[in-house]
Amino acid sequence: MALNAPPSHQNNMMEKEELCSFALSIATSSSLLIVLKAIIELDVIGIINRAGPGAHLSPAQIAAQLPTKDSGATASMLDRMLRVLANNSILSCSLRALPTDGPIERLYGLAPVCQFFIKPEDFGPMVLLLQDKICTDTWHHLKDAVLDGDSAFKKAHGMTLFEYLATDMRFSKVFNDAMSSYSTITMKKMLENYNGFDGLSTLVDIGGGTGQALNMIIAKYPTIRGINFDLPHVIKDTPKYDDHGKVIVCDYILPMAPETSHSARVASNLDICMLAYCDGGKERTEQEFEALAKGIGFESFTVVCSAYDLKVMEFLKKN
Ligand SMILES: C[S@@+](CC[C@H](N)C(=O)[O-])C[C@H]1O[C@@H](n2cnc3c(N)ncnc32)[C@H](O)[C@@H]1O
Repeated sequence: MALNAPPSHQNNMMEKEELCSFALSIATSSSLLIVLKAIIELDVIGIINRAGPGAHLSPAQIAAQLPTKDSGATASMLDRMLRVLANNSILSCSLRALPTDGPIERLYGLAPVCQFFIKPEDFGPMVLLLQDKICTDTWHHLKDAVLDGDSAFKKAHGMTLFEYLATDMRFSKVFNDAMSSYSTITMKKMLENYNGFDGLSTLVDIGGGTGQALNMIIAKYPTIRGINFDLPHVIKDTPKYDDHGKVIVCDYILPMAPETSHSARVASNLDICMLAYCDGGKERTEQEFEALAKGIGFESFTVVCSAYDLKVMEFLKKN
């Protein structure tokens, strides 16, 4: 019957099956980040990496390097978890027939994206931050926050994110580690692509965290006087802030209309983190950045270059 069905009907049937599969993969997609967090905590990506370029290891070989109580059970669980990462192109997978007539075993290697999940400069700390209980608890308050126009983080933890960070040194370290490893990756790229620090005498990093980005800039431009401006629990003494003619803003730019590119997804994913975690924090479209620059008295606004998906923008005053 199906063969005789008109092509459009066939297409509709296929489309519905495809859509159903797509819908279920969306509904179950939280497994990916939960698995990735545990794999990072177990240092499995590091174990595969240390086995050498192009290495593929069996779950049993990986389990043998972990402090397991029951290595057979660990290997079996790892296999199922690593398959999720392979399904999402984070790992590669090859099949090997066992010498006896047993089942075929899966061997796992690093896919190209893993270069950004290998210590020390990697997005692993960002995964650990965003999957930390303090962050995930926040999401359960998003629906009520939307209805009340309030911050989900405040509903979950009774204070703003930055107030909370001053009270919880464990989470503060998780947060600062994520920020500084992220900054190292993006700042390295920015210093390759952007020469607008040339000739500056003083540079103030607003919300500069533990100072990683500023240190990297000053290492390349040693004559710049760097000021790291952040909250007291991050740095003890508040420095003086001079009004400069040039403000360099590094941020993601949201496209006007939603897109499915990785870069548009990063910008809107981070925008939702701002929405949930920070009072008033948000990512912006290029037009919104321009309006922000002009609204606070800068005469010119230019997107100068990119560092990966991060855009480097200059707000300039004429003088
Ligand atoms: C998203 S983190 C960025 C950290 C840093 N730029 C980096 O890349 O590592 C934002 C920073 O802004 C700081 N911050 C938040 N509110 C602030 C305020 N009112 N004054 C100064 N710094 C603030 C936080 O302490 C935090 O270090």
